[in-house]
Amino acid sequence: MGQIRSSYLGICMRTNVAIIGGGPSGLLLSQLLHKSGIDSVVLERKTRDYVLGRIRAGVLEQGLVSLLEEAGCADRLHAEGFLHDGTLISYGDTSFRLDFAENTGTSVVVYGQTELTRDLYDAREKADGKILYNVEDVAIHDLENDAPCVSFVHDGVQGKLDCDFIAGCDGFHGVSRKTMPESVRKEYEKVYPFGWLGILSETPPVNDELIYATSDRGFALCSMRNETLSRYYIQCEMSDDPGNWSDEAFWDELKRRIPETFAEQLVTGPSIEKSIAPLRSFVTEPMRWGRLFLCGDAAHIVPPTGAKGLNTAASDVHYLYRGLTEYYATGSEKGIDDYSEKALSRVWKAERFSWWFSSLMHRFPDQSEFDHKMQIAELEFLNSNRAAQKSMAENYVGLPY
Ligand code: APR
Ligand code: PHB
Repeated sequence: MGQIRSSYLGICMRTNVAIIGGGPSGLLLSQLLHKSGIDSVVLERKTRDYVLGRIRAGVLEQGLVSLLEEAGCADRLHAEGFLHDGTLISYGDTSFRLDFAENTGTSVVVYGQTELTRDLYDAREKADGKILYNVEDVAIHDLENDAPCVSFVHDGVQGKLDCDFIAGCDGFHGVSRKTMPESVRKEYEKVYPFGWLGILSETPPVNDELIYATSDRGFALCSMRNETLSRYYIQCEMSDDPGNWSDEAFWDELKRRIPETFAEQLVTGPSIEKSIAPLRSFVTEPMRWGRLFLCGDAAHIVPPTGAKGLNTAASDVHYLYRGLTEYYATGSEKGIDDYSEKALSRVWKAERFSWWFSSLMHRFPDQSEFDHKMQIAELEFLNSNRAAQKSMAENYVGLPY
């Protein structure tokens, strides 16, 4: 299985699961399937370095950590990641600590998505996993019979990958979702009227836990990658441009949005990366059509406020991996038939939490004073009510699979 045959006809391959997209979803699925003796081939449009060059978030739920352990890819995460038992929420100069451990008995791990993706690439290569980079013109065929295939071009050579199933892990701009007939697809979207201006700086984090801050000037987030690499975000206009922001202007604005105590102890320095990310909620239903299964950003996007993007991609992979191993072990199609419903049930809860947290912590251009009073009243309630904190903590650390 999985042999690559090149002939004048081009590249002909056969595998169990064709995985389109070599981001965290595709690689995690491929590695887990490998651990269960199920063959897969990953088709990635870019190079490994390009994929690893993308700066992404880094808060991992225990569900994802357990999947990485099962995939045999958690050693570096445990060695270099940070266990966070809580986070700080501030509004103006008032702040309170949301205690994950006390409210849920569990914590999250702060470990960059780039590092996690690197660990998955290393594991795939160590296992001689098949990843084709720089593939072009990926197209999906025959999804309605039990012998689908994927055509593509690799190094200018036409290729065909025969398979049993196709996992669409190719992100929001990929080909997989668009292959599902519009008559079958239902899409839900909310675009937020602001973005996040983020910087990476080789400075020590301002606090040993994340700070989610809101102020009259808008949202801010203080995060980190390690003891000497920090990640900061401030809410900005979507029409803004990173070029409009000197490092000094960024630091000054950040200081105005976080509690004074932290503003005073903030270590500033030159930014090594500066970019603006849009905030959007998006879900497509169903997440399966015929022999095609969508995972991760190919099916849903969350605003980064709740750090749910990668973690929800992981729960998709969990449900699909279980369904496929059940199929190859017993012939039962129950797991794969239940995939879309199970995955979407958890996706919508992550969407709700991300929308709720984003709505609470950002200043909306058209919001009235009453709307703002509602935000403050909700923060005051959170600050003073155990049940509210427990609910927030349970959503933040990750709802059960
Ligand atoms: N053919 C092959 N590969 C493709 C194609 C295509 N037509 N289109 C896109 N890809 C590749 C992209 O180059 C990318 O490497 O698919 C991969 C998709 O990876 P991600 O966008 O990272 O999506 P996913 O693996 O689902 O990870 C979700 O990424 O964006 C964050 O917040 C998100 O953390 C979440 C995570
Ligand atoms: C990050 O570290 O980049 C990060 C952390 C938490 C978020 C979003 C981004 O909610």
